[in-house]
Amino acid sequence: MNATCKHNLNEDVCNLINTQINKEYQMFYSYLQISNNLENEENYLPNASKFYKTMSDEEKEHGEMWSKYLINRGGKICLQQINTTEFNEHSNDLQSYFEYALEQEKQMNSSLLELHSKANDHNDIHLCNFIEFFFNDQVDAQRKLSNLINILNKYTSLGNDKYGEFHFDNYLKTNK
Ligand SMILES: [Fe+2]
Repeated sequence: MNATCKHNLNEDVCNLINTQINKEYQMFYSYLQISNNLENEENYLPNASKFYKTMSDEEKEHGEMWSKYLINRGGKICLQQINTTEFNEHSNDLQSYFEYALEQEKQMNSSLLELHSKANDHNDIHLCNFIEFFFNDQVDAQRKLSNLINILNKYTSLGNDKYGEFHFDNYLKTNK
């Protein structure tokens, strides 16, 4: 019989970690699509594009961190299909991108809380500690995005949305 490192890893918890991995990669893909949309010639808001590329890179890194974690605990990874249709329309509505991102981050926070609660139910202290690393990131991301939406609103309330977006993009250059 082969040795295994698996210990105190509940099956439901393992499934939730897999759900978490898939959510991280879904966000990685969605933010990458937004970044590409903002880089193209019709929209061309390069600093907003960079902002979403950084967010996308972070989500990919989270997906990899969770994957490594599950493997180290003796679990198996089950990757699912990623939905690519949401932002393939190449919308240029900057406000809707930021509102979407804020909503995604709040949903991510909820799923981390659910996972933490499940880990607690099964006395999985190691997993609880690991999840807690992500909570600071979530709070910072939510605060940053809500600030940016409010600042974007100030620029675009001048009556010319494209002009406002252009200035907001310049604002992002020096305030990341
Ligand atoms: Fe994440």
